[in-house]
Amino acid sequence: MKIPFVYGRRAEAEEFTGRKADIARLKMNLAGGINTTIVSPRRWGKTSLVHRVLEEIVRENNKEYMTCHVDMFGCHDEEQFYNAYLNAILKSSATRLDDIARIIKKYVGSLGPKITLGDAGAMTEFSLGIDFKDNKYSVDEILDLPEQIAKERGKKFIVCIDEFQNIENFSSPQQFQAKLRSHWQLHQHVCYCLYGSKRHMLLNMFGNYEMPFYKFGDLMVLEKIPSNEWATFIAKRFCDTGKHISLANAQKVAERVECHSYYVQQYSQLIWLLTTNTVTDEHIDLAFEQLVDRSTLLFDNLTDNLKPRQINFLLAIAQGEKNLSSAAVLKKYNLGTSANIKNLKTSVIEKDLVDEIDKTFYIQDPIFKYWLLNRYSKH
Ligand SMILES: Nc1ncnc2c1ncn2[C@@H]1O[C@H](COP(=O)(O)OP(=O)(O)O)[C@@H](O)[C@H]1O
Ligand SMILES: [Mg+2]
Repeated sequence: MKIPFVYGRRAEAEEFTGRKADIARLKMNLAGGINTTIVSPRRWGKTSLVHRVLEEIVRENNKEYMTCHVDMFGCHDEEQFYNAYLNAILKSSATRLDDIARIIKKYVGSLGPKITLGDAGAMTEFSLGIDFKDNKYSVDEILDLPEQIAKERGKKFIVCIDEFQNIENFSSPQQFQAKLRSHWQLHQHVCYCLYGSKRHMLLNMFGNYEMPFYKFGDLMVLEKIPSNEWATFIAKRFCDTGKHISLANAQKVAERVECHSYYVQQYSQLIWLLTTNTVTDEHIDLAFEQLVDRSTLLFDNLTDNLKPRQINFLLAIAQGEKNLSSAAVLKKYNLGTSANIKNLKTSVIEKDLVDEIDKTFYIQDPIFKYWLLNRYSKH
């Protein structure tokens, strides 16, 4: 029987739930040509949402739109970005190899990339190798490519770029952002959807008036899917596969992992696997222990790479301490002097372990929080 819960890949079709208002807003933006930035912590559902919306736009608009997804995960410099970008755009615009050759010849003439085919004839497998050493000028042509293709075909292009904050790690990030923006703002047939998970970085990139991407478009801060919506979804997925969980229990499941999308799916899957007919409290408790067990190795490694004071600081946040630089908290958690707190804050935020929202600090990963409080501190 097909397991009705998925994690570690985007949620599609009936695996996807909720987000009605987000879908409507993003769809209106992208179909209407309004550039959009989406920010939320990892694994809350950005990638799933963007794919869902693009699928709907394409389905409902009778081939009026072309779409492409560029994943910047693993892009460490401009060259890798241009490579990923060109590949993604060609992949979505060409259905045959001779199309690719024609587009390159026409629009990226100075480039002369090497074309290597992964699987003969299969368009999804091809990849282009670009040698930039003698081709410094072709980057402008690459950036304008979606606009050119859209114009040529009388269509609109929606270009989505995932993990966009990786740009900050390039050698001259501001200069590069200024270059992108100077091209993109002239494009009339292309709409850009930029999204990523490092809230502090992205909010700075898009919300700081000194930055090139200031006021680039609509900034969406994605929220979690609420527990009552999760409850209905979980109960239905059990029911569809001939098993049963009460709505109250389903809601408890979602709340126990703080409605974190990835964990709701993983936890539900573990419960589903333990259940023959009807979910009991024992299943729910046992599956939770399994969930924590499965992450233990990861969390062990993670804390091995932290300094003792960083761990103490995380413990203070996990305990819900509010006034982190107060004398009492500094002493209780052995955090040194209040002058250390700023560095500690910056380090755990940069490591993506902690989020700061409205001056309050949160451990991003609810299972890590549980592990810190219940397993780590009881070593
Ligand atoms: N709308 C949704 N409905 C159901 N599950 C979801 C939804 N969004 C995300 N998920 C779950 O969360 C996991 C992470 O989602 P993903 O879209 O990859 O997040 P992000 O791009 O923000 O890291 C998915 O594998 C899936 O299990
Ligand atoms: Mg993603």
